[in-house]
Amino acid sequence: MQGVDPAWLPDVAFRPIGIRRTLIRGSGPLVDTVHGEVAGACERFGGSVSRESGSYDLVLELDGDDGSEGFVYGRGDGCTTVTASGARGLLYGFFHVVRLGETAFLDDARRASYQPESALRMLDHWDNVAVHPVMGQVERGYAGGSLFWEDGRARGDLERVRAYGRLLAACGINAVAVNNVNVHATEARLLTDRIGEVADIAGALRPYGIRTHLSVTFAAPVVLGGLASADPLDESVRAWWAEATARVYTAIPDFGGFVVKADSEGQPGPFAYGRSHADGANMLAAALAPHGGSVHWRAFVYNHHQDWRNRSTDRARAAYDHFVPLDGEFADNAVLQVKHGPMDFQVREPVSPLIGAMPGTRLAVELQATQEYTGQQRHVCWLGPMWSEVLRFGTDGESSVGASARGGLVAVANVGDDPFWTGHPLAQANLYTFGRLAWDPNADPHHVLDEWIRLTFGPGPGPGLAAGLRSILDGSWRTYEKYTAPLGVGFMVQPGHHYGPSVDGYEYSPWGTYHFADRDGVGVDRSVATGTGYAGQYAKPWADVYESPLSCPDELLLFFHHVSYGHMLHSGKTVIQHIYDTHFEGVAEVEAARERWASLVDLVEPARHARVAERFEEQLRSAREWRDQVNSYFFRKSGVADERGRTIY
Ligand code: GCU
Repeated sequence: MQGVDPAWLPDVAFRPIGIRRTLIRGSGPLVDTVHGEVAGACERFGGSVSRESGSYDLVLELDGDDGSEGFVYGRGDGCTTVTASGARGLLYGFFHVVRLGETAFLDDARRASYQPESALRMLDHWDNVAVHPVMGQVERGYAGGSLFWEDGRARGDLERVRAYGRLLAACGINAVAVNNVNVHATEARLLTDRIGEVADIAGALRPYGIRTHLSVTFAAPVVLGGLASADPLDESVRAWWAEATARVYTAIPDFGGFVVKADSEGQPGPFAYGRSHADGANMLAAALAPHGGSVHWRAFVYNHHQDWRNRSTDRARAAYDHFVPLDGEFADNAVLQVKHGPMDFQVREPVSPLIGAMPGTRLAVELQATQEYTGQQRHVCWLGPMWSEVLRFGTDGESSVGASARGGLVAVANVGDDPFWTGHPLAQANLYTFGRLAWDPNADPHHVLDEWIRLTFGPGPGPGLAAGLRSILDGSWRTYEKYTAPLGVGFMVQPGHHYGPSVDGYEYSPWGTYHFADRDGVGVDRSVATGTGYAGQYAKPWADVYESPLSCPDELLLFFHHVSYGHMLHSGKTVIQHIYDTHFEGVAEVEAARERWASLVDLVEPARHARVAERFEEQLRSAREWRDQVNSYFFRKSGVADERGRTIY
């Protein structure tokens, strides 16, 4: 495959294995994949690989096949060993050795066992099969076309899909949903007469241990089956799903299951039949159960026809209000997929109170790698620290989101047919970090970033490059937060495409995303005492912490409270001064990052350097626009001057 970036798997990463003697024990398709990887490395670097006994530097052994994904790594008598009792475990153990590089062969390497925290680590592609007139080929996609689909059909190029699967396996991802959650007419048919196209994709991902999932429309029995209804309690509807699902498994025996967006932003769902979301999810779960699949039922259900005049409706409350009463009613193989925040992937949101409030339900937590609200892959915004904060958040002060996500961790994918995979080459770090955090939600994201830098840029150019990349990426999420919507208030983006500032863009819209700025203050009162009551959806201690502006963390203040511009933050600044300062700082940080990148010109290959440099120009232009619009808006509303007398328009 020419011209495609090897990302975190450049040839040089395989050198430490490729120069040595490797023994591979065990059999099966994934063992063959590992064998192929090692054989390829040996061809390039001169080592050897065998399935016979002898003396070796590396032994990769599959002992049994119990379906587990962990492995034991050790070193003794001059030999490194990876032992797994499940085939995927061997694959992940192999990539563990790749990640370690030469250190895997040092004699002081310690024996340790590794196990993913969560059994499902999935990427959801919002890819359309046919180009959508508004959303294009990939909804919220910023990396070109789809890897899977082009102009209404599956792309012929499965090599690239296979290469994608390889990258995903190397960071621990084991599931991919191949089409958009908004299922349009063409996409709907993937479930039935076009399942063969999905099967081809599944065939290309399978050698890397990845199961394929499909987004389906709840109305399928009507739109595809010609039935009069899609009522989940109607026997003919249930029979239709059972048959359709059985046919899917004939085509794809290891099919993972369905993803469903129902009664959400215009998608059909069980409400039309007076049924609950548990009824809807359980019907699909029943169709999938005989085959070992699961349904991922999304909790992103809210009223998108809200009257902005009505302050008692609060979109943030919606998922909890809809789903908590259904706790305990979902089938074992029905997973409720919850966005990490209550709104929609803003740069700063509290953790969704639904997570932790449904102990009788398997939850999956959904993150967004595609940078819809975080700079659309034109801005550098490494999301590792945000995701890590979310995953480590103790929903009741103790049990973490990562541990509550028994149904898995999911991210909306950020890749496309762009030669760098992600449009912005540095956005690859988000994809890699998601995989590694899904495997271990307690991993230190900064270590993951270092790992990504070392793998992607190689050990060659030395510490200057690594330090430069670290300084550009490390704080980039906070930088982005500084120059965009302040203190957790969210949105303020241009409606529709969501790129760039428009402070009142959604203020008088039906979408439920308001900031309520007036001449005295800004923010949404979500307290129990005087507001929408949303703060009361949290368990203690959070319900108390968020209830009062005095205890609410600064960064979420405007999410939970409407306060005056003179309100004093814990930081010792007033809200208005905070807005001015952070917006000036944010732009200065982008300027510094751009300079730093320019200084790395001799250390990064020209095409990659040029692509990032070009994106930095746009990021800086856009950050200045954000700064000036937000600062001017709040200056004009409040009439309060900047203490430091900087230019505000
Ligand atoms: C956001 C996004 C949509 C998407 C939706 C979802 O609202 O803008 O494009 O369809 O989330 O998660 O379903």
